[in-house]
Amino acid sequence: MNSELLKGLNEHLKLEFRAAHEYLAMSVWLSVNDLPGFSTWMKQQSAGELTHAQRIMDHLVDRDEQPVLPAIPAPPKTWKSLEALCQHVLKNEREVTASINELCAAADKTKDRAAAVMLQWFVTEQIEEEAAARAVLGRIRLAGSTGVGVLMVDQELASGSVPGAPAEPPAGGSA
Ligand SMILES: [Fe+2]
Repeated sequence: MNSELLKGLNEHLKLEFRAAHEYLAMSVWLSVNDLPGFSTWMKQQSAGELTHAQRIMDHLVDRDEQPVLPAIPAPPKTWKSLEALCQHVLKNEREVTASINELCAAADKTKDRAAAVMLQWFVTEQIEEEAAARAVLGRIRLAGSTGVGVLMVDQELASGSVPGAPAEPPAGGSA
């Protein structure tokens, strides 16, 4: 594999692990703040990010290349508001999308068909990830700062009726 592409894929791992770590911290904060639907959604998102990192590491190993696990900064412990938290999720996902697009360009440039095929999965996944983050942020904005509105969105997330929030409970029970 081209050395620049290899470096880029290893650097991308940091974005996936950082997202996994931050989403888990969000899940804890949401749980502490009595929003089990939101908490479950973020816990599922966190688990998803780990599978994304694993997908890239598996590809590197299959290609006889060395994945290098990054250091992950400690995530925030609290968020200013539910809207700020959702905005941060959307920002994270947009950064991941931008990184995937750069990696796709690098794979095309080096004519690395195998990497391009592997990355194509992420292109599709990121459309869903951004759409889900936007949908939840939009509903929080509609709900405003009223407790009743927030509780309604929390229940929607718990029941899986918001795009990107699977209905089935995560392994290990509710958050
Ligand atoms: Fe991801």
